[in-house]
Amino acid sequence: AAPASGAPSFPIPANVFAETVTEVKHYTDSLFKFRMTRPASFRFRTGEFAMIGLPNAEKPVFRAYSIASPSWDEELEFFSIKVPDGPLTEHLQKIRPGDTVLMRKKPTGTLVLDALLPGKRLYLFSTGTGIAPFAGTIRDPETYEKFDQVILTHTTRTLAELHYGEELVEALRTDEILSEISGGKLLYHGSATREGEHKGERITTLMETGKLFTDLGVPPIDPAEDRAMICGSMAMLKDTAAMCERFGLAEGSNANPGTYVVERAFVD
Ligand code: A2P
Repeated sequence: AAPASGAPSFPIPANVFAETVTEVKHYTDSLFKFRMTRPASFRFRTGEFAMIGLPNAEKPVFRAYSIASPSWDEELEFFSIKVPDGPLTEHLQKIRPGDTVLMRKKPTGTLVLDALLPGKRLYLFSTGTGIAPFAGTIRDPETYEKFDQVILTHTTRTLAELHYGEELVEALRTDEILSEISGGKLLYHGSATREGEHKGERITTLMETGKLFTDLGVPPIDPAEDRAMICGSMAMLKDTAAMCERFGLAEGSNANPGTYVVERAFVD
């Protein structure tokens, strides 16, 4: 792929794919998604992350990005924050279709179905851009083969920050292919903590009071049948993991599957 027109041209480093942006959508002043071509040889497990950069320097800056596509997707989707002076996002937020984005060849991560023991219900707890890996999980047929119910929670500061997730959930309910994949098994709980009807309702508060379960019409978390993945800020991970442990869940990893797994939402 050619560099963006007018941009200086630098050699593509070894172990890096150079891909072409196919779509960019801005949601708020600080959030956008982009999609790019997928290299034919690139394999990943739904929920993993990759290192992303731009061909704008001899030694490009790379940052970890959760892949927001399911593993079957022909393209790769990412959901990003825009940091005013962020060494990568300052430039990445200006990309347009046709531009080149770099991706290191090896993906990794713990928010994968393989790191969880079998169960009945899967909770996907996210705040902010932490929804990105779950955008892949909720579009992966394997998720619904392994679980009877899949519950996505997304908590953001403002209502506008919920739109990316709302759009996805809507597509899973109405799009012909996606609705067949989810088969009516997806439940969604979105809340903004600083405005609107759910003001003040952090996910940890909703779990502690039990309002989450009554809102969703499900029993409280039970380690015999419930599993969880958590993705958000360091503070959110710590507090939500502690809440999961209070319900009896135990942390797992790729090497030692458990009843919940965590990973921080990266770019900040
Ligand atoms: P709040 O508005 O009460 O701070 P951030 O942008 O800081 O990552 O926050 C994204 C969302 O995560 C916000 O709704 C925020 O709530 C919530 N949040 C922040 N810290 C925690 C935490 N320790 N536990 C649960 N939710 C949190």
